[in-house]
Amino acid sequence: MSRFQIAIDGPAGAGKSTVARLVAKQLGLTYVDTGAMYRGIAWRALKENISISHEDALSALAKETQFQLENEGIRINGQWLNEELRTPQVSQLASAIAKMAKVRQALVSKQQEIARYQNVVMDGRDIGTHVLPHANIKVFLTASIEKRAHRRFLELQAKGLSVNEKTLQEEIRKRDENDRKRKHSPLRKAEDAILIDTTEQSIPEVVEKILELCRTKVGGGE
Ligand code: CDP
Ligand code: CDP
Repeated sequence: MSRFQIAIDGPAGAGKSTVARLVAKQLGLTYVDTGAMYRGIAWRALKENISISHEDALSALAKETQFQLENEGIRINGQWLNEELRTPQVSQLASAIAKMAKVRQALVSKQQEIARYQNVVMDGRDIGTHVLPHANIKVFLTASIEKRAHRRFLELQAKGLSVNEKTLQEEIRKRDENDRKRKHSPLRKAEDAILIDTTEQSIPEVVEKILELCRTKVGGGE
């Protein structure tokens, strides 16, 4: 049976997860946060002391880990995880692990399996280009690096965490560079993806744009 799929890609802090979650809620689709899966493997690797040089051990970890993706977050082997996955250490390790072909293969097959049985909004870096190449709607979200770092800064500040905005900007810049330059499934806009620059756009405006794309697609019988 053919499924309805929305693929959202883009650099760190562009608004992917916020927007994807809201679109999924509005349309009653399953939200799949693929970044949380890479973060989950990084979190487990740190906990189990698996070195970044052990690609086979990391890909075995990716294969055996069970993910339950819910609109509000993720369960990893049954454990509800949230803030633990968002530390700078986990972010950097996730980006390093995401370079590994075998780890990617293990996670991509889990992502494709989820999309085989459910209608999804999936966000990440390679969804439109690799994971769901036939998605009904593909969106590439971006925003200036200053704006993305500033939004992340405000988000952390609201949680009572003190961070230096420049350090945050540098961390995001490095991670984007890693993601864009890696050999396997680098971050890039799929040719048929719609580019949305959120620098000057609010979350509701971006959500509405995507809902409008869906209405056009369904209404137009495409
Ligand atoms: O998932 P991704 O890393 O692309 O970004 P996010 O975590 O959804 O968004 C990063 C921060 O930017 C969050 O605090 C969002 O609420 C905020 N944001 C915003 O203020 N305006 C937008 N148009 C998009 C995101
Ligand atoms: O929320 P943010 O945009 O900062 O990051 P994320 O979406 O949670 O992804 C964390 C890291 O996982 C990224 O920096 C990528 O290195 C990696 N990732 C990936 O390679 N492919 C995906 N489909 C999703 C995430």
